[in-house]
Amino acid sequence: MKNKDIYILGIETSCDETAVAIVKNGREIIANVVSSQIESHSRFGGVVPEIASRHHVEQITLVLEEALEQGQMMWDDIDAIAVTAGPGLVGALLIGISAAKALAFAKNKPLIGVHHIAGHIYANRLVQEFEFPLLALIVSGGHTELVLMKEHGNYQVIGETRDDAAGEAFDKVARMLELPYPGGPHIDRLAAEGKEEIQFPRAWLEQDSYDFSFSGLKSAVINKIHNLKQRGEEINQANIATSFQNSVVEVLTEKTYRAALEYGVKQVIVAGGVAANKGLRSSLETKFAESDIPLLIPPFALCTDNAAMIAAAGTISYQQEKYSSMDLNANPSLMLK
Ligand code: KG4
Ligand code: ZN
Repeated sequence: MKNKDIYILGIETSCDETAVAIVKNGREIIANVVSSQIESHSRFGGVVPEIASRHHVEQITLVLEEALEQGQMMWDDIDAIAVTAGPGLVGALLIGISAAKALAFAKNKPLIGVHHIAGHIYANRLVQEFEFPLLALIVSGGHTELVLMKEHGNYQVIGETRDDAAGEAFDKVARMLELPYPGGPHIDRLAAEGKEEIQFPRAWLEQDSYDFSFSGLKSAVINKIHNLKQRGEEINQANIATSFQNSVVEVLTEKTYRAALEYGVKQVIVAGGVAANKGLRSSLETKFAESDIPLLIPPFALCTDNAAMIAAAGTISYQQEKYSSMDLNANPSLMLK
């Protein structure tokens, strides 16, 4: 008998996107709805947790209905409800979790708590099947991690940031350059026009470490901007953007490449908002062209927060019968394991 298709409904509310999606067999997007709050937060220069929670409350039911409509799905078709359980903003996570629990209870479906980073990794499986062992570089506003996976649902963090996340550094430097929030895309655009006028430091850390550190670089850039301002000299935004971005990209590329060779991986995947960065994409592509290791970077819409990635990761938990109980709680610092 042919195995039945699996349809998982995913919910993501860990930060400033209210998202619901339906994914078939962990690989095919049936519906994918994302309601972004960026405009509400941009005037504050960052995400305001209270505002985020309130937006999620207002949006969740609408987004849910739209996803079912888009997918032309009935509740009977859905096998389980997957939801981001952490990490993220606690108040924001709780909205998604409450919605997921209510649905699981009312519709009598299994509930599956998903780690947000597992979601970012599984966004790639919506494009291409995984081959193990694989190495994932996760670079977002809250995370910079190198994760080794030997099989589905198995994660080994081999490197992580010791201070700021890569995206956070992009956003802070952008703020100093008086660019709008989120600053990553603006730095990316400017970096394409500038030249590396200033050699900012590269934080390699100990020789064999796969950890990252971006706060020293961030301070170096901020000091440079302060100095220029104090001396009344012109601030060339594009050159600063290029110099800063090159430093981040070089460290991310070199460490990812070194780890890929050391662990003999069959695939390297990139995930998270900073995976949209053109400088990072081209640097990784050039570097991995020297090897025969395939490099996979998802399309932009799957790089940033969405619920299809949560449903995709949740499908593995469903197949492995790793369900959550009704006392599932939001965990702002949930570990990936
Ligand atoms: O994954 P994401 O949407 O949210 C988190 O889970 O954090 O990532 C958002 C981050 C922000 O810091 C944003 O500035 C950064 O991704 N970002 C970029 C680019 N596009 C988004 N950073 C550099 N270059 C980009 N093109
Ligand atoms: Zn994210």
